[in-house]
Order: sequence, then structure tokens, then C-alpha cells
Amino acid sequence: MNIRSALLVGASGLTGGHCLRFLLESDLYDKVTTLVRKPLPREHEKLQQHVIDFDKLEKYSHLITANDTFCCLGTTMSQAGSKDAFYKVDCTYPHEIAKLAVKNGSERFLIITAIGANSRSLFFYNRVKGDVENTVSKLPFKGIYIFRPSILLGHREKFRRGEKLGMSLGKKVSPFLVGPFKKYRAIEAEVVAFSLVHIAREGPDGVNILESDHIQSIYDKNRK
Ligand SMILES: NC(=O)c1ccc[n+]([C@@H]2O[C@H](COP(=O)([O-])OP(=O)(O)OC[C@H]3O[C@@H](n4cnc5c(N)ncnc54)[C@H](OP(=O)(O)O)[C@@H]3O)[C@@H](O)[C@H]2O)c1
Repeated sequence: MNIRSALLVGASGLTGGHCLRFLLESDLYDKVTTLVRKPLPREHEKLQQHVIDFDKLEKYSHLITANDTFCCLGTTMSQAGSKDAFYKVDCTYPHEIAKLAVKNGSERFLIITAIGANSRSLFFYNRVKGDVENTVSKLPFKGIYIFRPSILLGHREKFRRGEKLGMSLGKKVSPFLVGPFKKYRAIEAEVVAFSLVHIAREGPDGVNILESDHIQSIYDKNRK
């Protein structure tokens, strides 16, 4: 097995935090680089953190050089404050990072979008997620893995009213979602992060879109 390097953006977030832990635990990676806005209170022999300005990504191109590039970035409309600011975090930054990564030889790009991502959707959120899927899919990576989770479950430091309601509803409704509706079941952020790191090891080449029930099944089959 070849030892690889990973780059992670969004490591301070709910899913990104779990992803960082799984990357550091993985024997596939001997170096894990994170690009952050504020340093994380985390030290590890494999970990290299860089505080950067995401509006000047080109300036940090020399850091975006890993074999596998993981993107767990995202914001909410209330945090971002405007549609433009939301678009920047959920589409422009991931696209810029992906372009620099592929230019610098990264082989795999893994990104979380969301269930319902569709650039022609009536809903702005789904359109933005669809746009980022379309733009990164055109880049010449060996493998692209687009994760489309349903509502994410997990403990957040910061209270988010909308998501708290979504989580509570998601947990109640999930057992009734069967057959083709299974992909709408709420999913633990930890499950999404595990499956991201797992698929980087053995996922097929090309563009791969993974719906929420598929993400859950990767975890169920492989988590010991
Ligand atoms: N929440 C859900 O139910 C849900 C459902 C489906 C899909 N998703 C998607 O799944 C992905 C992961 O979600 P999550 O809830 O785990 O994310 P999260 O906890 O909100 O974390 C978001 C990450 O993005 C970073 N970020 C936000 N604004 C930024 C900016 N302006 N510049 C640089 N970095 C910025 C944050 O860094 P800071 O700590 O510096 O802010 C953090 O590391 C997102 O794309 C989200 O849209 C979420």
C-alpha cells in the first residue's frame, strides 16, 4: 500500500472534525494538512495546520498539493448573511480549491454537497450544491466523490435553531422512511466522515455520486 497525503478544508466543522480524526487514525495517510481560518486546538504528528485567507486561495496554492483532497466546507444562510456570501463558501471556495488541487497533482477530490443538489432546482440551496457538483465534476481528477447526505446529526458547539429543529424532526421521521425514501433518513455526521475517508481508499475512478443511504451502507459494512 502506498502511503498518501490528505488535505482537508472544513476541519473545524461538525463533519470535518470527524473527518480529521479518521484521517489521522488512518494508516493510508502519513500527512494530513488542514487549511483553517482559526487554529484548531489539536496536535498530532501527522497534522500540519495552516491559517489562511480563503479569499486569496491562489496565494496558498503551494499548500494544496495532497494526493487526496477532502472538502467539508459549508455555511448557512443566517451565518453567511447573504446569498452571495453563501455561494462563495459552498461553491466558489470548493471550486477554487479543487482547481488548484488538480493543477498540483491531487488524484482524488471528495466533497459533501447535500441531498437534492441540482443546479436547476427552484431552491437556492439545492442550486448552489448542484453548481458545485457540476463545476468540480469537470476537473480531471482520477476520482471524484460527491457525498449527498440528508440532515446531519451530531453535537454542535454553536446552537443553530433551524438545524436543531431539522435534527429533531429527522430523528422522529427516519424509521418510517423505507424503500426509495431511505435516502431521506437523517444521518450521523460521523457516518458521513467515516465513509468519506473509507471511499478514498478503495473507491472507483471517475465521478461518483453517493446518496445518503449509500453513505450509511458504506459505514454499516465497514465500521468495525
Ligand atoms: N447540516 C446539515 O443538516 C447538512 C445536510 C446536508 C449537507 N450538509 C452539508 O454538509 C457539509 C458539512 O456540513 P457541517 O454541518 O458538518 O458543516 P459545519 O459544521 O457548518 O462546518 C462548516 C465548515 O466550513 C467552514 N467555513 C464556513 N464559512 C467559512 C468561510 N467563510 N471561510 C472559510 N471556511 C468557512 C467552517 O469553518 P469555521 O469554523 O472557520 O467557521 C467549518 O470548518 C456542508 O457543505 C453542508 O452544507 C449539511
